[in-house]
Amino acid sequence: MTDSATGRYLCVEFISHYCCMKYNVLVRNDASTSYIELIRKERTSFIQSRGGKIRMSSNTFNMDSGCSRSCFGIASTPKEVVCVTGGSGYIGSYLVHLLLGRGYTVNATVKDLNDEKETKHLEALEGAESRLRLFQIDLLDYDSIVAAVTGASGVFHLASPCVVDQVHDPQNEILAPAIKGTINVLTAAKELGVKRVVITSSLAAIMPNPSWPSNVPNNEDCWTDEEFCKQNELWYPLSKTLAEKAAWDFTKEKGLDIVVLNPGTVMGPILPPTVNTSMRMILYLISGGTSTFENIYTGIVHIKDVALAHILVYENTSANGRHMCVESISHYGDFAAMVAQLYPEYNIPRLPKDTQPGLLRSKSASKKLMDLGLEFTPMEQIIRDSVESLKSKGFLS
Ligand SMILES: NC(=O)c1ccc[n+]([C@@H]2O[C@H](COP(=O)([O-])OP(=O)(O)OC[C@H]3O[C@@H](n4cnc5c(N)ncnc54)[C@H](OP(=O)(O)O)[C@@H]3O)[C@@H](O)[C@H]2O)c1
Repeated sequence: MTDSATGRYLCVEFISHYCCMKYNVLVRNDASTSYIELIRKERTSFIQSRGGKIRMSSNTFNMDSGCSRSCFGIASTPKEVVCVTGGSGYIGSYLVHLLLGRGYTVNATVKDLNDEKETKHLEALEGAESRLRLFQIDLLDYDSIVAAVTGASGVFHLASPCVVDQVHDPQNEILAPAIKGTINVLTAAKELGVKRVVITSSLAAIMPNPSWPSNVPNNEDCWTDEEFCKQNELWYPLSKTLAEKAAWDFTKEKGLDIVVLNPGTVMGPILPPTVNTSMRMILYLISGGTSTFENIYTGIVHIKDVALAHILVYENTSANGRHMCVESISHYGDFAAMVAQLYPEYNIPRLPKDTQPGLLRSKSASKKLMDLGLEFTPMEQIIRDSVESLKSKGFLS
């Protein structure tokens, strides 16, 4: 009974999807506002390629793992263009899958457009034929990055060498692409007016830090000890720490909006045709490997939760700073014992319970993401999803 009322009114508790209530964290609960924002964002951007190689996708099929398009409301209004560096990788491809399902147009980067192992699994994703564009980049080649970022209003920066094995030339193989690559991506984002950049750092940029108080669980205030890394030749944690610090320095100087995720060891269903470093950890354990990854392991996290967390901190403008992203802080011994319990048919070595001396276990390490609404998949399910995916892809019998 209000005379001033005109036009149409959304009348819904909140906009959500039928198939996975758990993921309603990604759907704003101020439905009317979200509708208005969607309309405002609706636009199509075209690439003004500046020297990089680009390819549009062709064929698609429905994925059998993860959420289908209905989960993320593909039927809704198309969204903006975002760029995912490292789109071909383990985490990157799952993120591209969710972004396409959510209606985004995605510029995904690969290292070699002519290598089908980097492209085919992306081109097969639902929505790829019309909303996925692949770009070939080298993290040290600024112009190749500019081409991929052009037209994007958001960037997810994942590309970085994810290698924990010993390497001959840590400076050129790991440190330079991680650090200089991050600066190149941020510079391009700043120059091209990108709204927000999500940086995929790592729990490896939070710990190891032997001087952190022994009675306080590690949190976002903690930074990996650079000297400890150098002394122990921990090049990957050093690369993630220096790259993340470089990103924060860049932001302070140049004023770009960034938000950082710090995932633990990521496991779960595999989309690419190859097995990445973190999934190799479970293969190694099942094959009888007895290393305890003393300074590397901090706990596991489901790949779907990591991909969702990327979108959550991108879309939620109140998200800021670093975000630990792990099911729990735990010891590798806990993980090994759980794998042994769930899969007694494999010959899992008996390891000490405390494989990470001094590491305080914590169930609420990822409180910031939980407060934003993310529910973490428990360790048991992560292990089951990982082993079943490895089996179905033929990496494990
Ligand atoms: N997996 C984990 O447990 C974990 C945990 C915490 C953080 N992270 C971080 O998450 C990100 C993705 O990790 P991931 O597990 O998905 O690793 P991944 O499967 O090895 O993917 C890495 C991606 O980076 C790209 N890349 C590497 N070096 C590059 C270079 N010089 N130029 C251009 N592209 C380059 C790779 O391209 P190609 O595929 O073409 O080689 C690939 O797309 C990394 O930043 C990693 O540090 C991973």
